[in-house]
Parts: sequence; C-alpha cells; structure tokens
Amino acid sequence: MNKKLRSRDWFGKTGRDGFIYRSWMKNQGFPADEFEGKPVIGICNTWSELTPCNAHLRDLAEAVKRGVWEGGGFPLEFPVMSLGETLMRPTTMLYRNLASMDTEESIRANPLDAVVLLVGCDKTTPSLVMGACSVDIPTLVVSGGPMLTGYFKGKKIGTTDIWRFTSESKRGALTDEEFKQAEASMCRSQGHCAVMGTASTMASMVESLGLSLPGNAAIPAADSRRKVLSHQSGRRVVEMVKEDIKPSDVLTKKAFINAIKINSAVGGSTNFIVHLTAIARRVGVDLTLDDFDTYGRNVPLLVNLMPSGDHFMEDFYYAGGLPVVIKEMSEQLNDDVITVNGRSLTENNKDAECYNRDVISTVNKPFQKNSGTTVVKGNLCPDGAVIKTSAATKRLMQHRGKAVVFESIEDYLARIDDPGLDVDEDSVLVLKYVGPKGYPGMAEVGNMGLPKKLLEKGVEDIVRISDGRMSGTAYGTVFLHVSPESYIGGNLALVQNGDVIEVDVANRRLHLDVSDEELEERKKNWKPPEHEFDRGYVNMYIKHVEQSHLGADLDFLVGKSGSIVKRDSH
Ligand code: FES
Repeated sequence: MNKKLRSRDWFGKTGRDGFIYRSWMKNQGFPADEFEGKPVIGICNTWSELTPCNAHLRDLAEAVKRGVWEGGGFPLEFPVMSLGETLMRPTTMLYRNLASMDTEESIRANPLDAVVLLVGCDKTTPSLVMGACSVDIPTLVVSGGPMLTGYFKGKKIGTTDIWRFTSESKRGALTDEEFKQAEASMCRSQGHCAVMGTASTMASMVESLGLSLPGNAAIPAADSRRKVLSHQSGRRVVEMVKEDIKPSDVLTKKAFINAIKINSAVGGSTNFIVHLTAIARRVGVDLTLDDFDTYGRNVPLLVNLMPSGDHFMEDFYYAGGLPVVIKEMSEQLNDDVITVNGRSLTENNKDAECYNRDVISTVNKPFQKNSGTTVVKGNLCPDGAVIKTSAATKRLMQHRGKAVVFESIEDYLARIDDPGLDVDEDSVLVLKYVGPKGYPGMAEVGNMGLPKKLLEKGVEDIVRISDGRMSGTAYGTVFLHVSPESYIGGNLALVQNGDVIEVDVANRRLHLDVSDEELEERKKNWKPPEHEFDRGYVNMYIKHVEQSHLGADLDFLVGKSGSIVKRDSH
C-alpha cells in the first residue's frame, strides 16, 4: 500500500489531537495496535426496527466485521438514516436525498479508509450509494437479501399479490379473515420484498454496476450464504483499500450501460431509472433518459419473476441468480469495466450455471423478446415519461382514450369508486401533482387502482398517467415520471376531463390531443396548488429538487464533495 491511509489524519496524529482521537475510541476496548495503521473500514448500516426489510442487518454487520478483522482491517459500524417503505409517510422518496446527505457527511467527517454499505429496502440502496459516490473512497455494497417466498392456501405469494388481494377484497372475492391470513403468510422471514420489485432491482443494480461481490442480488436474507457473502465482502474491502478501487473507478459510463441492459433482462423496476440517473450525476457520468431507451430496449426478458412473471427471488437464487443472467448477456455487455473485486463483470460470471430454465432463460429463448422500460415523449411529457413494457398490457400500447382527471391523490381516493364516475375500459386515468415538487417526494401512486365498477366487470388494466412513480412490485399500462411535472406547469397540469390522449409506445409517443393555442389559453388561468410545507427539510427539498428525468436529486448535491476535510476536529 503506497498511498497514505486517510484515517492516519486522525489516528496517526501525535500530541493533543491524536490523544483525543484515540483515547475516546479506547473506551470501547480497542487495543492500541488497532490504531497503528490498519485500514479503518466503516460499516454504514441502515438497520432499523422501523425498516423491517433491514431489521437483520446488524447480524450481517457482524459477518462483515469478521471478514474485515481477518483481512487485517479495523471495522467500525455506524448508523445512517434508514428508509422503510412500509411505514414512512408521506413517501420514502422524499427522504432519499436526505439519507444520502447523512451518508455522505458521516463518511466524510470520520476517519474511514473504506466503507461497506448495508442496504435492503428500496431507497436504502440508492441513498447510500449516492452519498458514498460523492465522497469517493473505496466502497462495497452488501444487500440484505430477499425474504423467503410466502405461502397462502398452499400457493406461493409475494408483494405483487397485495394488489390482487386488494382488488379481490374490494369486489368481495376475499373475506376479511382471509385478507388477514394472507397478511400473516406473506412476510414470513427477514429480508426485503421477495419479487423483482425495487429492492431486488436495486440489489441487482449494485451487482451489475460492479459495486458488490458476484451473487449479491438473490441470496435470501435467511440463507446462511448471505452471511458468507458479507464475510467475504469484509475481507475484500480491506484489499480494495490497498488497491485503491473507488466508486469512480468502477462507475464508468460503460458500467452504467451494463446495468441498464441487465435491468431490462431482469424486468427491473421503473424506479431504477430515477435512482441510476441520480447516482450517475453524483460521479459525473453523463447519463440521460434516452440512454435507458437506447440501451434498455430490444433486450430480451431472461427471468420469469414477479411482477412480470411467475417466480420469486428465492427461486431466482436456486436457479443460479444474477450471475447466470450476466453470463447469458455477456456478448452484449462491456467487458472493459472493473468491479469491486478488480475483475470485469463478464469475467466474474463466466462460469455461472443455470439450474432451472423455467426461471432464467437463454437469450435465444427469452420470456419476452423485448423487455425493458420505454421512454416516451410528446406534448404531455417533452422531457420524457417512462413505461415498464414488460408489465403492461399489449393491447393498450397503442390506444386513444378520454382522460379522467384527478387533481390530487386525495381527489383520486375520494372519487375512484364513485358509481357515478364517468369511466370505462378505454378511459385514461390522469393523476396530477404527485411529482418531485408537487407531492412533494414523487410518491409511488402512479399505478392507481382501477375503479370498483370496472373491476366488477372483470377489467384488469387501463391506461394510467402521472408524474409520480409506481412500486416496483406493481404492474399495468402505467406511464410514470412525466417531466416536466404538473406542479411546475408541465402540460399534465392542463389536462381536462374528456380530453383525448394518444398512446403509441412503438413510436415512443404520449400525446395530448389539444391544440397548442388551447393549451396556451388554459395555462393563463392555471396556478399550482398551494403547499403547506413552509419549514425544515421539506421546504428545502421543494426548492431544490430536480425533475425526475434528472434523477430527482437536490441540485446542490449533484457531483462530489470528495474525501478531504482540511480542518481538524474542534
Ligand atoms: Fe422493503 Fe419492499 S417494503 S423492500
């Protein structure tokens, strides 16, 4: 190791400052030689009992520590803000950037030579990766892993079934008692959602970017091999300090392109787009919405996982996991990238074996020919909107329908089941003011549930459009992330009931069939709804959050702060 360890600026000091830095640490019982030049490895933990998906991460931290000690490092675990999808109001996305700031400043301010990020539930991954990228010291990600598959009435269930259970209970096909049984049967072990939702998408993202050791995405949280991976990650991160492999070495444009292709191959969540864009902007890589369409389109769907398919993350792991997908895709992937173990993505996975072709297919016999997320543009979304085509209804990809407009999420909730609502199977549901600034926080409400009266008729999908996001576990013909958003005066704000909307996914078009003159006229009388957030973080968020096509980061967080803090502790 030639480069001076960053931690020596603290623990290597003599005199009063060195005394203070070491003495207080010694109250935890660390012997003096721990401070004599071992790489200090931060274990940045999103453990929280309020984030059930991450509630087991202290166990994984212990496994990481074993590996760090063994590798000759000095591990120190610390907490950062944890974001639990299920409990936090109004939406965890509002806090992704805050958690990234916490991560960035916690790493930067402390005597760390490298970090292991312990993540799981959706936003805990991008927030920590964004923060660590802005500091740019050696970083390795360990995901918490998915839950074991749930079983209800002898059938496999996972998070995606919530939407089905809700519709069934709404139309009386499921009793209240059965609804409660299903609730107890689904989340039966530690770990995050067991489908290819956002958490699994994020775990696949870090593996395909090269930020984790191979195999990270699919090992179930309850499987002892998750601890083995954690242990090995602890060992490896110490070597990364010696080899000085930083996020900026791993996260080149080519690595992002690989991640986009692999995300299409696994049918990953649309949230991938907004998070990957934000990460790219932290490391200074020029990644645009068009890149997701260019590189993500025409990629075959290689996994048969919910919500696009039938199986669960546990099945994915037993079938060989992401390494098999990467091997299958190898001819389409960039090989001149490095991952955290110093080797390329394709080199790492060249010997992967598939054990179940009903879960992971070959490129020649994919589950769908063209997967991925499609980026559409038009007068409704000049800066773009996205649709997860693998989870949408083919028949609706080319469509004209009349808009049924909801002016807020509350308006939608109040009227969607009104028997008098003028809606049919050809209608297009439009939801306004759920974007980054409008909600605020770009909530996961874009996959609006269908009106009861259509569900009772057996209608399963209609076109839906909003400037919000949707859960990675959801499905349907849902256009999301409309940019510019309605709150800043995008044309979405001007849609009225009965306006005709034209959808043409093959030609990447989403068009409001209203003349420019009429839209100009409507704009004159338009003003955004008033927000009640006049203080604190949310107030700052509304002022500084960027639009979704730019990753919805705070404008002043784009880029890096770096790892050097010139002033001593005072
Ligand atoms: Fe945490 Fe789904 S709620 S991953």
